[in-house]
Amino acid sequence: MKATKEILCQQIFEAEQVAKEKMAHDPYRQGYHLMPPSGWMNDPNGLCWYKGNYHVYYQHSPLNANRGNIFWGHYTSPDLLNWTKQPTFLYPVDSWDLNGVYSGSALVEEDAMYLYYTGNVKYPGDYDYIYEGRGHNVCLAVTKDGIEPDSNQLLLSNDKYPSDMSCHVRDPKVWKMDGKYYMVLGARTREDIGELLIFESEDKYHWTHINVIKTPEPCGYMWECPDIFCLDGQWIVMTSPQGMAPHDYVGQNVYSCGYFPLYGDFRGEYTLGEYCEADAGFDYYAPQTFKAPDGRRIVIGWMGMPDADYSNPTTEQLWQHCMSIPRELHWVNGRLTAQPIQELKQLRQEKESFLCQKEVSLPMHQRGELFFRNQGEMLTLRIGEDAEIQWKDGLVRLSLSEQAGYGRTERFLRISNLRNIHLFLDSSSIEVFFNDGEYVMTSRYYPCENQSINILGEGEGEHYQLCPMTFAWKE
Ligand code: FRU
Repeated sequence: MKATKEILCQQIFEAEQVAKEKMAHDPYRQGYHLMPPSGWMNDPNGLCWYKGNYHVYYQHSPLNANRGNIFWGHYTSPDLLNWTKQPTFLYPVDSWDLNGVYSGSALVEEDAMYLYYTGNVKYPGDYDYIYEGRGHNVCLAVTKDGIEPDSNQLLLSNDKYPSDMSCHVRDPKVWKMDGKYYMVLGARTREDIGELLIFESEDKYHWTHINVIKTPEPCGYMWECPDIFCLDGQWIVMTSPQGMAPHDYVGQNVYSCGYFPLYGDFRGEYTLGEYCEADAGFDYYAPQTFKAPDGRRIVIGWMGMPDADYSNPTTEQLWQHCMSIPRELHWVNGRLTAQPIQELKQLRQEKESFLCQKEVSLPMHQRGELFFRNQGEMLTLRIGEDAEIQWKDGLVRLSLSEQAGYGRTERFLRISNLRNIHLFLDSSSIEVFFNDGEYVMTSRYYPCENQSINILGEGEGEHYQLCPMTFAWKE
């Protein structure tokens, strides 16, 4: 029987009641990261500021922590600190999205929010679902209040994409510019080359394919979750490439996630600069950016990695994965820097300043922040027995213990001159910003309680305990 929205809504309600009971005894429940109320979370979607609230929609499988059919979950916040869990926004119940309401983005205009997303359809039959048997449709949900869609429709199906495309064409990111609308879609060609398709529209509903963004030499077989924006005078193409050949500590994860500077016009002639990874940790993928009302370009990434061979013990508590903290982006000296948004300073509680001449030990808080100005030739930062960040001979190594890593071992990053380290720890995550956000390492980890942070090196810094964000819950 086809599940109706009402039946699914009731099932989600029941799953959330069970999850609520587990929360109180959950050592890994995050304090200041968005996580699913129950079930599985992946990509952030439809990020925007609309009528006095930030909106974070997200890929959500509410009934299965190991990923089942995909819905759009939803959080709102007036300040990125106090959050409200809103009702599920999109259900996979229409003929154009029956096998998942996949990723997409928000366009805010006048009195409405336009949410473009991918409707995933798997046709019954003996198909490979890459070159045959799958529909990846561009769909549009329009909402006036941001809480419930007022309409939902199919805009583009696979026959509207260039003829050399496989069935994998998805994740529309839409924006307005020069009086027109633009959409970028992630794509896999029939020859297994990852690229992006650019579409243009006069009216938000009718779209014409106008350009392709690709590298001269193939860079992976599929580019997911694209984003294109101009920041501090530089055009940037962000995407999550799959199947990229690893080299010199780029591409250590099963899939990558990064950006190219774009020179020229994304609608016509252009060249792409060198690809840089956005993050060198274990768990960061499918980031999406949006503009805050004060003009900042903020990014949120999924703190997870598809098809990774490491795992998360939170599945025992019936949830899996979370979002990164929101980060403010800038283009500085040829790199995209990502810094924790300034709002997070309001979570700071006790502050402790410290000097490290050779070694210092600090109490470890379940939720904590540490900023360290490095003055030495090498540095080691140990978080109990669970994690170690070491910088030596121009190389950073993040290593996790067997008991904290759940299959995560070590990751590397080249940094010739380490000026500073900024660390954010939550109950089950670690985010490390290097050199004012020039480089980042993001990872889930599952620490033991009551440990300390040990620093071996030379420098000084500050250490804070952080209080949790507030979460209100709307059924
Ligand atoms: C990236 C991704 C997207 C897709 C979504 C489905 O993690 O594979 O390309 O739209 O997840 O959940």
